[in-house]
Amino acid sequence: MARKGHFPFPPSEVEAGWGSPLSLPEPPLADGIVTLRPWAPTWSDAAALAGAWNDPDIARWTGVPAEPTVAVAARWISGRVARAASGLALDLAVTGLDSAEPVRGEVGLARFDPARRVAEVGFWTAPAWRGRGVAARATAVLAQWALGSPLGLAGVLARNHPNNPASAATLRRAGFTPLGRASASNVDVWLSSPSG
Ligand SMILES: CC(C)(COP(=O)(O)OP(=O)(O)OC[C@H]1O[C@@H](n2cnc3c(N)ncnc32)[C@H](O)[C@@H]1OP(=O)(O)O)[C@@H](O)C(=O)NCCC(=O)NCCS
Repeated sequence: MARKGHFPFPPSEVEAGWGSPLSLPEPPLADGIVTLRPWAPTWSDAAALAGAWNDPDIARWTGVPAEPTVAVAARWISGRVARAASGLALDLAVTGLDSAEPVRGEVGLARFDPARRVAEVGFWTAPAWRGRGVAARATAVLAQWALGSPLGLAGVLARNHPNNPASAATLRRAGFTPLGRASASNVDVWLSSPSG
């Protein structure tokens, strides 16, 4: 049942930034099946990212660049340190147990709202790895970390378009609860909080 009107609904429309540098989790977050590590400045990571940007589902449901090439992916990866240092976003590559394996997906936090101590999670899984729990595991691991020390968020939000049932199922499996539909943007807002 949707819990309309609860704090921190609706989500922030402003890319406020956290207000201080976001430290990447060290050692990398893992649950024994997936590992969340920083994007690496390698051609292999850039090729994986560009490949994902060219997937129709990822292009439809997430923000991808107008030119989803390996060169643009390499530039985006090289900007991750600045995005974290300025408090704008934490972008993590998802691999299997061995973080040196090829990238299977991505999970990240953005739209930090320091006043309400919330941020939004986004995720994708490369087509070849779908349906094996990659996104649900990675999203749950990142949200649990963000709700604890050192970040200590009061809530991790997610927006989901009503026509994206795979994403809704992922959020539910990752422990998120639907808050309701944000009428302005017609997206469903989900929350993971310390109290569940
Ligand atoms: C949504 C997406 C991330 C799911 O990734 P995934 O790694 O395949 O998801 P998981 O294997 O962890 O599955 C999680 C849940 O979603 C369900 N699911 C996965 N794909 C599904 C589909 N196409 N239709 C319906 N449910 C689906 C799984 O059955 C599972 O539900 P369950 O726990 O009830 O069995 C992936 O399809 C994707 O990258 N889509 C494009 C990008 C996107 O939509 N991102 C989310 C918006 S930010």
